[in-house]
Amino acid sequence: MEQSILIKTEAYVNGQWVSASGGKTFEVTNPATGEVVATVPDMSVEDVRRAVDAAEAAWPAYRDLTAKERSAIMRRWFDLMIEHKEELARIMTIESGKVITESLGEVNYGASFVEWFAEEAKRTYGDVIPPPTKDRRLVVIKQSIGVVAAITPWNFPLAMITRKVGPALAAGSPVLIKPPSETPLTGLAIAALAEQAGFPPGVYNTITTTDSKGVGKEFCENPKIRKLSFTGSTPVGKVLMSQCSSTLKKLSLELGGNAPFIVFDDADVDAAVQGAIVSKFRHNGQTCVCVNRILVQDQVYDEFVEKFSKAVSELKIGNGLDKSVQLGPLISEKAITKVTEHVEDAISKGAKVAYGGERMEGLFYQPTVLANATEDMIIAREEVFGPVAPIFRFSSEEEAIQMANDTEYGLASYFYSKDINRCWRVAEALEYGMVGINEGLISTEVAPFGGIKESGFGREGSKYGMDYFMEIKYLCFGGVDKQ
Ligand code: SIN
Repeated sequence: MEQSILIKTEAYVNGQWVSASGGKTFEVTNPATGEVVATVPDMSVEDVRRAVDAAEAAWPAYRDLTAKERSAIMRRWFDLMIEHKEELARIMTIESGKVITESLGEVNYGASFVEWFAEEAKRTYGDVIPPPTKDRRLVVIKQSIGVVAAITPWNFPLAMITRKVGPALAAGSPVLIKPPSETPLTGLAIAALAEQAGFPPGVYNTITTTDSKGVGKEFCENPKIRKLSFTGSTPVGKVLMSQCSSTLKKLSLELGGNAPFIVFDDADVDAAVQGAIVSKFRHNGQTCVCVNRILVQDQVYDEFVEKFSKAVSELKIGNGLDKSVQLGPLISEKAITKVTEHVEDAISKGAKVAYGGERMEGLFYQPTVLANATEDMIIAREEVFGPVAPIFRFSSEEEAIQMANDTEYGLASYFYSKDINRCWRVAEALEYGMVGINEGLISTEVAPFGGIKESGFGREGSKYGMDYFMEIKYLCFGGVDKQ
């Protein structure tokens, strides 16, 4: 670990590697072993203010680069990530517990946002509007929004950074990133690659801190920051939104989910089992789009439970650095407690443990299948964020839609059916920002990622992603003479 040139134990501000002004640090641990792997600066709100000032000072020159020049820097950053993919994946696995095959997948996924937005930088087209009077010409241009702050989660230490800063940097905005205190090393490693790629000083900044509340408030209230993008829990998203009201700061929120996975009786059950495994156990159930509730129609319920439980029993658990391991540890003791509470609550209300159900040594928990799940269980309402799959029963399409939509969340949803009419009907009826139809893994840089209801707002990735980091300006040319 220490030998990697990408292991950085200082923050990156204004083109310099810096410590916290007060000299404070915090430890980063490997959740698979409990070992301390590094210490990084524990920066204060004052430190953050200085970083914001640097980013603001860098804005005019950076936004004045041509789109092609910005695109070229981003392209170099993308190439460097791919070149250092094994090293980045290893750092990610060591600090997050994510299994190495998934970490490698995340480096590719994260880098793809940089590549995509490097291309999109050159296509931020405006409009020419037919004028209402003969002497006017109306034009719409899109401009960089200004300094962008990003608060990113531990479950995707790389991709949630690039998905936010990709469009910002492409549009001409400097960025200030606060990676989570659990997984700052991947964020610092890609900052080192951003430095090599050649972003001018002050354009790309990464600060590390344990003061999430104080720094989050500063991000919301500092008028020099023009846009905040946050991925994390719905309760924290609500606090940030209310704090942003003081500056009317633009905000994108990618918050919690409670994803349903519906298996209709006309589905290919084997394909549905595979889709559910992929979707439920990605990063050991610790993603916002992981299946939280599996809803299965009467006629195929027993068959699904049996085949799914068998597939779950074959998953290999262990330290994610071992390439054959499919499930790593959970991120923290708090996560284990939540999973335990959800399982105990479900069992006390009549769930049958079809597989697993036990904590293991350290931060490991058996992948768990709970049959006979019902809507009064906590797991029906709250995101478990762990390797627990409750299976609910339904009889009709209407009932499945009603159950699926019966939540304040609206991020991802999935269903399996071979009936094309049903596929359209159900896809349109599901109140979610994203729907997987006969597919359990739908994230890609080319499609819009985001939710509705209390899962937040804004879209990341895709051709829609740029607009959330740009201002629309209308130009009205008056007194135009025709000779
Ligand atoms: C998330 O869990 O927040 C992101 C998942 C994804 O991008 O697929």
